[in-house]
Amino acid sequence: MTEQNKDKVVIFDTTLRDGEQSPGATMTHAEKIEIAELLDDMGVDIIEAGFPIASEGDFRAVSEIAERSKNSVICGLARAQLPDIDRCWEAVKKAAKPRIHTFIGTSPLHRAIPNLTMDEMADRIEQTVSHARNLCDNVQWSPMDATRTEWDYLCRTVEIAIKAGATTINIPDTVGYTAPVESADLIKRLIETVPGADEVIFATHCHNDLGMATANALAAVAGGARQIECTINGLGERAGNTALEEVVMALKVRGDIMPFYTGIDTKKLMHISRRVSTVSGFPVQFNKAIVGKNAFAHESGIHQDGMLKNAETFEIMRPEDVGLAGTSLPLGKHSGRAALRAKLKELGTEVGDNQLKDIFVRFKDLADRKKEVFDDDILALVSATTDGP
Ligand code: KIV
Ligand code: ZN
Repeated sequence: MTEQNKDKVVIFDTTLRDGEQSPGATMTHAEKIEIAELLDDMGVDIIEAGFPIASEGDFRAVSEIAERSKNSVICGLARAQLPDIDRCWEAVKKAAKPRIHTFIGTSPLHRAIPNLTMDEMADRIEQTVSHARNLCDNVQWSPMDATRTEWDYLCRTVEIAIKAGATTINIPDTVGYTAPVESADLIKRLIETVPGADEVIFATHCHNDLGMATANALAAVAGGARQIECTINGLGERAGNTALEEVVMALKVRGDIMPFYTGIDTKKLMHISRRVSTVSGFPVQFNKAIVGKNAFAHESGIHQDGMLKNAETFEIMRPEDVGLAGTSLPLGKHSGRAALRAKLKELGTEVGDNQLKDIFVRFKDLADRKKEVFDDDILALVSATTDGP
């Protein structure tokens, strides 16, 4: 299927807002500017750069990111309060393409905190969204904890936000509670039910408390959402958010069943993943999909042999497509003769069959004692053996 026949899914990155809210992930001003530039450069459509009223530092970061932005829309977050929205606008207005994102908790647990009646909630949404819209053409509204909000209540609040001028309606799964079937169904029913829904974009914002953030985001797209909110490495509150690299690569690799495209240059994924890991201080787990150290590594003999013959035997995407130089075949106790021979070739070492046999026996013995056998270990084994009979 060609790109022309596919729908675009807008990528909204919130690494610098929801990601930075992760305990311990605070970034410096310079680091935020660097990450925003990398996001803009890799084709992220919308960058949520921070929460301007939260601190002077957040305000300065959002303002500078807005000023320096090239292609991305720059968005700031604001609670459903007029001073928050004004402060947010002050920060984002220098962007070529600014957006205000305002939210309020709509589930019974969340609306119990300000203790608003339905009429008071309706007034608050109407007042804040229309105020934001008077400042900015591009306004996103979110009913926080939408997936635990009663259906009728959710429909009513979404309808008020659309009437007040919201251009994007984001449906957050704030506590990572939903599941894929429900996520798709919720978006689909909202689009079918709420008056005016066809005039706005629906977005999905999923948290990973049950490990379903990526699946839930993709299911929401199947239900009609056309904006995915996500973060690099899945950074975010508690167990994190939907990982940008996962949804982007899932849409790229499985375009046959998910006919959508994104504007992301996937070759830049690995670099930004490493930079976010470094500046946030959050290591990427080894077996993390797409960007983990082991995502394109194969140790077992059968896998290594298969990979040496045809990379598609055990890889569904090319490492080069995510910005890696290639597949890695680390040598360990599960490795076989084919990988050892390939490694010797890579190291520029020619050995005969007898020497290879000898090296292989010694290699297995070493591998039983060490987690990974390195190039220097192999060269030492070559020196310790000869090609005699
Ligand atoms: O998880 C959430 O509900 C949020 C909102 C502010 C959109 O991050
Ligand atoms: Zn969130």
